[in-house]
Amino acid sequence: MPSVTAPHSVILGTGAYAPDKILTNGELERLVDTSDAWITERTGIRERRIAGDDQASSDMALHAAQRALQAAGLTAKDLDMIIVGTVTPDLPMPACAAILQQKLGAGPIPSFDISAACAGFIYAMSIADQFIRSGAQKHVLIVGVELLSRILNWKDRTTCVLFGDGAGAAVLGPAKEDGSGILSTKLYTDSSLVGSLCIPGGGSKEPLTAESLANARGKVHMAGQDIFKVAVKNLTSASRSALEQAELPASAVRWVVPHQANLRIIAQVAARLDIPLERFVLNIERYGNTSSASIPIALDEGLRDGRIQKGDTVLMCALGAGVSWGSALVRV
Ligand code: UT7
Repeated sequence: MPSVTAPHSVILGTGAYAPDKILTNGELERLVDTSDAWITERTGIRERRIAGDDQASSDMALHAAQRALQAAGLTAKDLDMIIVGTVTPDLPMPACAAILQQKLGAGPIPSFDISAACAGFIYAMSIADQFIRSGAQKHVLIVGVELLSRILNWKDRTTCVLFGDGAGAAVLGPAKEDGSGILSTKLYTDSSLVGSLCIPGGGSKEPLTAESLANARGKVHMAGQDIFKVAVKNLTSASRSALEQAELPASAVRWVVPHQANLRIIAQVAARLDIPLERFVLNIERYGNTSSASIPIALDEGLRDGRIQKGDTVLMCALGAGVSWGSALVRV
């Protein structure tokens, strides 16, 4: 079990990318029966980014990855592995990570996708940590990227107002002797709510037909309240477990970088953990829910604007479809 004094992998650099095009709540009012007031009050979202027609997930991932490599002082040739958390790969096959490897000009290194929805970045971080800790790999690029605007039903007000596009990345490497590094990670999946957040059609179970396409079976479906309740409960317990594993109290956490799905979920988790909301890095207002990209985008913002300082203990937690969720405690 990793201890506080001997973490085994560390974040060497982070990067993020969000497309230029901004879609405001006001613009959504013209698309579906919604209002800026409803979206802001119920979610905290004011605007989100939408990728260009010429962009795929790997293009956004490339920008974030290049920025993370630059921050780490490394090049793509230094990488030993690429893990991409995404539910919106460029193609059903091969992996988005393989396409990213090609665009980055990395060597013939293992590169694969993780399908853990909004928890994808935490899953990728935990897997990278295991590889580095075992000594099998040295430098691992982890990416959370989503082009959700392509898989939303733009006639469904219960989902289309919530999500946005973007990418975030981090390069992980062996820990130094300064106490920084990944202190603990926790991963979970509970399949009892599989149907509460899913894309019903388009996979092997239900190949798309003209009829199912017209019925939006290939788009995101969500029972929001079911997910809301389980998110508050599980994000809190996973955060507590990460702290317990590292033998740290909640008061040791300088910053929380939560998945940005709903400000009300985040506020309830903050209250249960007894960590003031002021210590949460929040950007949901500007990006909405970017699924696996939300934590690395917020982490990168917090690091680059100086809120998160060297030596700070940072707690991350995310939950999404599956439901899959997880947490990570990191000393930066
Ligand atoms: O990242 C993956 C994980 N996802 C999440 O964590 C999302 C979790 N769920 C949520 O964040 C919230 O459940 C939502 C934001 C999705 C919905 O908020 P809510 O407070 O749970 O609303 P609700 O589903 O209970 O709906 C309340 C009302 C309904 O109308 P009636 O039946 O009371 O007349 C909805 O039809 O709000 C209506 N509604 C809307 N009204 C205006 C739903 N969406 C909208 C909308 N604009 N966009």
